[in-house]
Amino acid sequence: MCGIVGYIGDSQAAPILLDGLSKLEYRGYDSAGIAVYDGEHIQTQKSIGRLKVLSELTHDGATMPGTVGIGHTRWATHGAPSKENAHPHFNQDETIAVVHNGIIENYLKMKKYLEKKDYHFVSDTDTEVVAHLLDYYYKGDPIEAITKVMHRVEGSYALGIIFLEHPGVVYAVRKDSPLIVGHGKDGNLIASDVPAVLKYTRNVYFIQNEEIAVLTGESIAFYNVDGEEIQKESTTIDWDINAAEKAGYEHFMLKEMYEQPKTVRDTLNPRIKDGAVVIEELGMTDEEIRRIQRIHIVACGSAYHTGVTAKYVFEGMARIPVEVDLASEFRYRNPILQENDLVIIISQSGETADSLAALREAKSKGIKTLGIVNVVGSSIAREADTVMYTWAGPEIAVATTKAYSAQLIAEYLLAVKFAQVRGEITETEVASYLKDLQKLPQQIEMLLSNKERIQHFANRYISAKDVFFVGRGIDYAISMEGSLKLKEISYIHSEAYAAGELKHGTISLIEEGTLVAAVLTQEELYKKTISNIVELTSRGAFVLAVTTTGNTEIEKAADYVIYIPQTNRWFTNSLAIIPLQLFSYYVSVGKGCDVDKPRNLAKSVTVE
Ligand code: AGP
Repeated sequence: MCGIVGYIGDSQAAPILLDGLSKLEYRGYDSAGIAVYDGEHIQTQKSIGRLKVLSELTHDGATMPGTVGIGHTRWATHGAPSKENAHPHFNQDETIAVVHNGIIENYLKMKKYLEKKDYHFVSDTDTEVVAHLLDYYYKGDPIEAITKVMHRVEGSYALGIIFLEHPGVVYAVRKDSPLIVGHGKDGNLIASDVPAVLKYTRNVYFIQNEEIAVLTGESIAFYNVDGEEIQKESTTIDWDINAAEKAGYEHFMLKEMYEQPKTVRDTLNPRIKDGAVVIEELGMTDEEIRRIQRIHIVACGSAYHTGVTAKYVFEGMARIPVEVDLASEFRYRNPILQENDLVIIISQSGETADSLAALREAKSKGIKTLGIVNVVGSSIAREADTVMYTWAGPEIAVATTKAYSAQLIAEYLLAVKFAQVRGEITETEVASYLKDLQKLPQQIEMLLSNKERIQHFANRYISAKDVFFVGRGIDYAISMEGSLKLKEISYIHSEAYAAGELKHGTISLIEEGTLVAAVLTQEELYKKTISNIVELTSRGAFVLAVTTTGNTEIEKAADYVIYIPQTNRWFTNSLAIIPLQLFSYYVSVGKGCDVDKPRNLAKSVTVE
């Protein structure tokens, strides 16, 4: 996923562009570039690798004077990482500069069309097509050219554009890729995400699909795809700037793990009023809730893992059948959806291409959709019929932790609400559930304070080659997330397995000293999982058990035990995941991996 920044105002643009791009590094990238109008030409400088290379090349922007510019960090999709493929891209006479996030799906067809009209390309990117197409349509009116391009290209795009003949203006337009406008005191900005502009302004406009923003140093105007001016409301961002910085922690991931108590409180408390679950944004009457016949939970990665937990909770508490799907599967399997189904899309970024496509698939079949999303104003948040925000604030580390915990809370609240409305639980049970939920933050705090013991244990496994995570029921869902955390930030191969499934093949992989993390938080399944642990240790495995205080029987079977506090059986994921997050974090740190920006990964996968 790429990062876009643009600036126009009284200050030198290049340093602002470089600073803004540095706040977007978390999105993952492999090259970068900026373009600045220097009073005569549009100057550009590009580099591959980290942003500091570009800063060094431009002496932190000093070699590129000018007060109007656009910048970009590129995550390669079409064309390998290279200076030629880095943005900004230009038309042939370098009078139009473009930065782009997204994918132009018909770029090859457009490229052939333009080559027949004697346009020459210098890169392998889809973005360069946009630069030449703007040139092709530009007859002196940038908005006219932009709207014509919007009618010709297919796919997703967030574009920042400057025209040499209109040097006092930055243009921005989006379709399915996020883009915001910041109204600052000494200039105006565009960016892919809020952290890039927070240093300059909190007054932000979220550009919606097929809207065009026209920025001068003093003004911001918006137009629709027909070139008609439209009015938009701004939003005041109340994140403090530290919320998007590390706040003294070594890594964003550690900071965000320690923000989980707050994240849980912020997601939970506004939705508990006078001892009842109140989800105002749900937009569903009690009658509609009673009519739900099946819930489809659709997501990717860790968000999917929360969905697996939610299946157990919804079915166990509210007795509603639940199907959980990987979004990349759901969108292509022509899912069987019926009138009274509810499709829940879970996504931290709200921009994951597969999850957005799954949402659209459900909507195309007329099914009610609910988004559980963290990023305000994101595509999934806007396109779902209703959205339940997880108030986790900006999550910068690629490996999700606080958003994951917030997603679980949102799912628990929905399950309690649905169960209560459908008469599956009593008022007494509601009160008990809410009491347990409201204890989670301090229980998480207690587990986080236990980090030294886990760090010490993790250091023994930084050279592990294979690690297994096993559990039954919700413990299996917890194992999935524990395994992904270890894989994605320490690059150690790992698998999550239903404990009862080991004997059907995987146990053949167990050798002397193989680490197996066994999760046991479901009391009615303890004994079954303990017998699996005995099978594992008898074949040489070293078993780390994560279990609930009081289950001391485990001491006889496991080699190392981490206890979590007692809570309701439906909510144990919120606690058991904490030591597994810490374990993965310290293994990754011990291996010297790039914890916040693991190799090959991006924070939000906005392309297929
Ligand atoms: C989680 O640690 C991963 N970074 C990844 O699996 C992530 O959960 C997945 O890509 C879904 O992202 P989303 O929640 O933004 O849709």
